[in-house]
Amino acid sequence: MSKKILVTGGTGYIGSHTAVELLQKDYEVFIVDNLCNSHISVLTGIEKITKKKPHFTKLDLTDKHATEKYFHVHHDIDAIIHFAALKSVNESVSKPLLYYKNNLESLVNLLNNMLDKEIPSLVFSSSCTVYGQPDRLPVNEEAPLKKPSSPYGNTKQISEEIIRDTINSSDFLKVISLRYFNPIGSHPSALIGELPLGVPNNLVPFITQTAAGIRDQLKVFGDNYNTPDGTCIRDYINVVDLAKAHVVSVERLVNNKMNESLEIFNLGTGNGYSVLDVIDAFEKVSGKKLNYTIVGRRSGDVEQVWADVSKANEVLDWKTERNLEETMLSAWNWEKKYRGIH
Ligand code: NAD
Ligand code: UFG
Repeated sequence: MSKKILVTGGTGYIGSHTAVELLQKDYEVFIVDNLCNSHISVLTGIEKITKKKPHFTKLDLTDKHATEKYFHVHHDIDAIIHFAALKSVNESVSKPLLYYKNNLESLVNLLNNMLDKEIPSLVFSSSCTVYGQPDRLPVNEEAPLKKPSSPYGNTKQISEEIIRDTINSSDFLKVISLRYFNPIGSHPSALIGELPLGVPNNLVPFITQTAAGIRDQLKVFGDNYNTPDGTCIRDYINVVDLAKAHVVSVERLVNNKMNESLEIFNLGTGNGYSVLDVIDAFEKVSGKKLNYTIVGRRSGDVEQVWADVSKANEVLDWKTERNLEETMLSAWNWEKKYRGIH
């Protein structure tokens, strides 16, 4: 019998790519999403790639009663991957209560139902934002957490604490918390990808939308940082590589391979690239010259961060397989297909 995996936020960017990888490994996939930041048509993309159908229920995880009702029916779920959250750093600054309510209430509801139905296994979407600007690079999982620069970042730190306290109170709960660095790119089929609503905040969708003629010009936020070319450095990880780490994590949980009841892993490539490196890679794979200009710094940006991924490499036996150019090409192919550009 195939294991039943609940993917919250499964029609979203990372959730949809993870649903594909799970279905391809013959897991039975149950998606819940309230569709506040994704579209139901994503399910068609998932089905076209995998020739399989995930179960879908429209559910707002902050709705306590609706969530209880869901778990009353689906009490036999084997493991949960919890992606559902709001994720815009900017928006969280102007609407902090929306972020605290959505991201924390949904986690609390989920954990309550896991305890109630004795569902033991959870993978949680955390973020490298919990490190702020690390004192030492590459940053490993032991690095001290810094005061978050946004309410969004704070929800990730608080969520990790909620999870730790809940594990301490339970004799069966096991959690893998994955700290993602910068996920980019799309599935090679270009049938699913990143679809930000409105004007993108993130670098890569802004690049592809500029090249597609939807935005006039990319603004590069600052070239006077203390980095080789003066622009900020990040660890950009391919979304399919990232999705595969979730499958490995689920396998570790359901096969009882955990060393501790809470395990935390950085998920990145281990390489830092500057904003100008990303633009170069895009121009190379697309054959297009990108219209960009250097402007002032964006407030809240850390100067440079990239991951020490040795723990994930060794303990999860996982590593990234796709390089920056391949990933930028996948992002461009997705944008072109979505916009009908040939
Ligand atoms: P996304 O917005 O594409 O997907 C999140 C999904 O959750 C959306 O489909 C949204 O409709 C759904 N959702 C939000 N609140 C919900 C609720 N209360 N009930 C049910 N569904 C709800 O985002 P993503 O990029 O796929 O991110 C997934 C997770 O990874 C999030 O927790 C995010 O914070 C985390 N993360 C993302 C990044 C990144 O750069 N994309 C980096 C680090 C961590
Ligand atoms: N950048 C630009 N111009 C743009 C957009 C971004 O120059 O139009 C630069 C930023 O200044 C930064 C780099 O590109 O130097 C990457 O910026 P992103 O907005 O793509 O990513 P961030 O590293 O700022 O943040 C991302 C997610 C957050 C998450 C964080 C850490 O958006 O949700 O990674 O995980 F918290």
